[in-house]
Amino acid sequence: MAGSSRSVAVFGAGYIGLVTAACFAQLGHRVTVRDIQPERIRLLRAGDVPIYEPGLGDMLAQNKERLVYTLDAAEAVAEAEVAYICVDTPPTASGDADLSRVWAVIDALRGASHLAAVVVKSTVPVGTGSRVRAALDEAGLERVGYASNPEFTAEGRAVEDFLRPDRIVIGTADEATAALLTDLHAGIDGPVQRMDVASAEMVKLASNALLATKITFINESATVCEATGADVTRVADAVGLDHRLGRHFLNAGLGYGGSCFPKDSRALRAMASNTGYSFQLLNAVIEVNDLQPRRAVQRLKAELGTLNQRRIALLGMTFKPGTDDMREAPSTVLASRLLAEGATLTCWDPVARPADAAPWNAAERHPTVAEAVTHADAAVLVTEWPELREVDWEAVRDLMRTPLLFDGRNTLDPAALARVGFICMSVGRATARPRRASGSE
Ligand code: UGA
Repeated sequence: MAGSSRSVAVFGAGYIGLVTAACFAQLGHRVTVRDIQPERIRLLRAGDVPIYEPGLGDMLAQNKERLVYTLDAAEAVAEAEVAYICVDTPPTASGDADLSRVWAVIDALRGASHLAAVVVKSTVPVGTGSRVRAALDEAGLERVGYASNPEFTAEGRAVEDFLRPDRIVIGTADEATAALLTDLHAGIDGPVQRMDVASAEMVKLASNALLATKITFINESATVCEATGADVTRVADAVGLDHRLGRHFLNAGLGYGGSCFPKDSRALRAMASNTGYSFQLLNAVIEVNDLQPRRAVQRLKAELGTLNQRRIALLGMTFKPGTDDMREAPSTVLASRLLAEGATLTCWDPVARPADAAPWNAAERHPTVAEAVTHADAAVLVTEWPELREVDWEAVRDLMRTPLLFDGRNTLDPAALARVGFICMSVGRATARPRRASGSE
């Protein structure tokens, strides 16, 4: 690595904290990770990773001599030059971000005046930085630098995103902190964007809200395609070739989920509302995304006549492939709605953590796709796990009561499925139906 080896304390051993810790250790820094959950720290010390994130376990293992895990905040900062705050900031009842965990860390830093800088990586409302600065001053850390360094890592590819980022955003008022953070990231191939703290905080919210808007644009276009006979995947491919627009995040589906887009788009909307401004475009994005899984249920109901006492198999539960994360997964809305319509639910997912809360406690979970679809009246592909592209759909058809497949991620070939006898519904494309014996469509 090109920069100096530094000592970093990372507060929060969640997705962001662990990826940050692993990648900084990989860059040669010494990292102490502090979390308040004893079980999490016990697992990490034992070499287990409490979350599913490709490459993370290997990277933590490879760099274990540079990683320490602790419950003790004082131990975490004892040797540290930089303290990274990577705790979660869940929404409150009013849609604001709950910053209590951030304040708890600042409180725990009281007296750590040897630190060169405190950095917030957690997603926070714009303006939080100046409050953190005031809290640091009040805690006797007025000589300690402060920066916002938002993360842009997507779950499932977080390690890669961290080490090969599109940009590294460093928001700080002082040169020394900017230089320190630039040095800390030495060895990472990505442009550094230096700016003020408030702008850095806003970059994070604006990026996620714009990505959510892009997805929602294609989802609304898909609805128009369904009504007019166009094929949204062809449209997205050609629209995406315009280099000003790009093909990324133009996959129509059951709506975005996860811990970031729903939360951050609501947070930006709430932040705007708190200033008396209604962010109208985001209002629409949020509403359309809420509708997206409900529309799918409505379309299934129209195809089957009723959903009452129908057996429906949900294939994939996590909010996207490559993660075990169920937060704000569209599958949960689908499952609740289907149950409310009187359906019986089965489900399959390769890694989703078993959920014992509603609606999943009312669904039969199966270890294979074949078992999940047996006697089903319809199967819904909810998460585009690669395993689902390998399924022998012809064999699956014989297990089902009705050969109806709703491809909620436009991941399979509807014509090929129709050839093996399926009615294949999808998002923004015509429903493909098997040829009748007479040869008519
Ligand atoms: C997202 C951003 O992509 C990251 O840059 C950001 O750092 C992260 O949030 C965060 O704020 O921490 P993530 O939520 O892990 O990452 O997942 P994405 O891959 O962005 O997918 C989000 C949702 O959008 C998923 O439900 C996915 O199925 C959906 N999606 C994505 C679509 O429906 N269509 C698309 O074309 C792309």
